[in-house]
Amino acid sequence: MIVLGIETSCDDTGIAVVKDGSLICEVRSTQEEVHKKFGGVVPEVASREHFKTLLPLYNMIKERFSEHIDAVAVTVGPGLPGSLSLGLCFAKTIALCERVKIVGVNHLEAHLLACLLEYRYPKFPALGVIVSGGHTEMVLWSGWGVYKRIGWTVDDAIGEVIDKIGREMGISYPAGSEMERLSRSTTYEIKIPKLKMEGYMMSFSGIKTAALREFRKITLKEDYPAFALGLQNSLFSSLSSKIERVVQDYKIKEIVLGGGVAANKILRDKVGEVCSKHNLGFIVPSPKFCADNAAMVAICGYDMILRGISDDLSLDYRSDWKI
Ligand code: KG4
Ligand code: ZN
Repeated sequence: MIVLGIETSCDDTGIAVVKDGSLICEVRSTQEEVHKKFGGVVPEVASREHFKTLLPLYNMIKERFSEHIDAVAVTVGPGLPGSLSLGLCFAKTIALCERVKIVGVNHLEAHLLACLLEYRYPKFPALGVIVSGGHTEMVLWSGWGVYKRIGWTVDDAIGEVIDKIGREMGISYPAGSEMERLSRSTTYEIKIPKLKMEGYMMSFSGIKTAALREFRKITLKEDYPAFALGLQNSLFSSLSSKIERVVQDYKIKEIVLGGGVAANKILRDKVGEVCSKHNLGFIVPSPKFCADNAAMVAICGYDMILRGISDDLSLDYRSDWKI
């Protein structure tokens, strides 16, 4: 079975082909340069960029892969309404022209199923942890296609905090990889208090406020790396404590990490430590499959079709779709 995947939920445009569960080809285009000057994603601009980019990307895929496809998988949520509807409209056009089925994919599920591109399904019950610019969620993954959200942030997502503080530091959007690079040059850290919240729910706005307060005390640029390290340690330790709590309560066998922030080595190491301590398996995609991409959408669509799920052309986007 050959599935074409399309991703346009935010500011990355991607198209990929998966054949019988293996990635065949993938193209993507990021709008980072365009949004940089605004300090964040401007929804209207993002939609226009997707509109310009989708057809050239599709033509590139067609040059590399000429076999007939069996289905189109497209991200229908969560994400920006304008961006989602452009991808969906493009996917419907392909489905109509090629006379193939269409399947609407949840972007968060796709971040988890990205693990299938290079690895395998986790052992169940697994804990899926999605850490991105818009989401910080813990999902109990108890079987094939069976998910239950058990903890999420009530305010800012971790990536959002990093991007907002990065902006104060003069780092251009998105700030994650530069924040990580900065912190590599130091072992000294400016301490920032961690999250104090009971249960599985999370809130990162307090850490953001505390970090901004610490940042304003800094007078020398030489202290930026120590600040960047302190911020990441605070955010990621807070998340890994929550993960540890769930792991113990639900007798989790394996952890799957996904989302753009999962590219961060400090986070990967912290979650890895929880896994070693509790003797759990740990699956995390290569950084290129942590960031938004269409390969994860294609593999998620493939998995859904195997589960008997598909949609028709009345498919609509769902900008606040939960996993
Ligand atoms: O999953 P993603 O590509 O898009 C969303 O669905 O939001 O995640 C983007 C987020 C941004 O906040 C970006 O700053 C962050 O991922 N990010 C990182 C790193 N690379 C990307 N955060 C920390 N460390 C990184 N290396
Ligand atoms: Zn994402």
